[in-house]
Amino acid sequence: MDAENKKKQKTKSQSRKPPSRAERELIESEKRYQRLSQEFNALLDAIPDDIILLNRDMVVLWANKAFAFKVRKSADEIIGKYCYKLCCNIPTLCKSCPVDESFKSGREEAARVLNSEGRILDKRAFPIIDGSGKVKNVIEVTRDITAGVRIEEESRRIQSQLIHTNKMTSLGALVSGVAHEINNPNSFIRHNAQTLNRIWQDALKILGQYHHDKGNFKLAGISFPKLQTLVPELMDGINEGSLRIKKFVENLRNFARPEITCMNEDVNVNNVVMTSRSILNNQIKKITDKFYVNCCDDMPLIKGNAQKLEQVVINIIMNALQALSDKKSGIKVSTSYDRQSRHVVIKVRDDGIGMSDDIMERITEPFFTTKSANGGTGLGLSISHTIIKEHNGSLTFQSKVGKGTTVCIKLPVQDTRCCNEKK
Ligand SMILES: Nc1ncnc2c1ncn2[C@@H]1O[C@H](COP(=O)(O)OP(=O)(O)O)[C@@H](O)[C@H]1O
Ligand SMILES: [Mg+2]
Repeated sequence: MDAENKKKQKTKSQSRKPPSRAERELIESEKRYQRLSQEFNALLDAIPDDIILLNRDMVVLWANKAFAFKVRKSADEIIGKYCYKLCCNIPTLCKSCPVDESFKSGREEAARVLNSEGRILDKRAFPIIDGSGKVKNVIEVTRDITAGVRIEEESRRIQSQLIHTNKMTSLGALVSGVAHEINNPNSFIRHNAQTLNRIWQDALKILGQYHHDKGNFKLAGISFPKLQTLVPELMDGINEGSLRIKKFVENLRNFARPEITCMNEDVNVNNVVMTSRSILNNQIKKITDKFYVNCCDDMPLIKGNAQKLEQVVINIIMNALQALSDKKSGIKVSTSYDRQSRHVVIKVRDDGIGMSDDIMERITEPFFTTKSANGGTGLGLSISHTIIKEHNGSLTFQSKVGKGTTVCIKLPVQDTRCCNEKK
């Protein structure tokens, strides 16, 4: 550098004034602001929840990375766009939008939303109030809480199942105790009734002779000719009552300790229906003139236990009979095969009194009955439900008060061999 140039440079640097203190402070403050802003942005970008800043028109002014990732767009494509277009691709505001609520109320608002992909979102809106007290912008924070909600639901379900299982176990223990207590005295009632019957038969001969010799007489205020028919009726009553108790106790025992039975028989459900019908024939004739059975011809065999399935069909037909109000209302039993789902279907449709939703909810609960005044035990459907579950099938009900009930049993077919084919 020559002497001339050196001189020029010296003059130039001497002419630039050093920044004043205020200028230095301003520059420092600007730098600090920039650093803070960068840190703040980095912090918001690190948060996995979607965060956006919105104005009153629902236009996005700023968004964090999680939001950009969710809508699969760059920051340029997001800023200045309507949030409902970006998030939901709809032309107007979403229903119950917490941001809109927050603009109106000036307070924090929240909403739980189910989006079109079935995700559960927790949306929170935080208003930014300006100096005049008006809401200038709103920050919306959205968190996907699907997994948490599902876990909560699942744990509630497991808990209620555990409570139910526990209740069932204690109920089972209670029931088998009660069954034992009832069975013992009941067997001596039956035994004593049989002995008394034999005594009565012998006494009848002597009393008959006495009546012949001495004329009419009374026992317990009842004349002898009447006693001749009444006493056997009373004996039958004792016997029948005791047999009913025995059957009920058997049901209770069955419920408390389901016995291990062969579940591997080849069962033709048409036979199950026909056997159940013949067992109930007397009662059917007493209750209705309209009992129809329609069995499908090509019925595949299923694996299971025929006797248990008969117990189910008998229970269901009995319920149907008990629901009828007169002999003109009827029952239709049908069987069919659903080739698509590979299930055999038994349907029992009645024109009876039907059920309300409240009753329907409880019918497979053990001991639930609306017929306690008429000897209902509330065990029929509970036992039936267990048996159908053992067969991997389903038991469903459709009913309307005053319009009758349809009970549908579906049982899976493992082997498509037909009943009329030889094994
Ligand atoms: N076909 C039906 N029509 C109307 N109500 C029914 C029918 N089947 C079942 N129910 C209702 O379900 C309850 C439970 O039935 P179930 O378990 O067989 O016990 P139970 O017959 O001893 O009452 C019945 O008391 C009745 O209220
Ligand atoms: Mg019943």
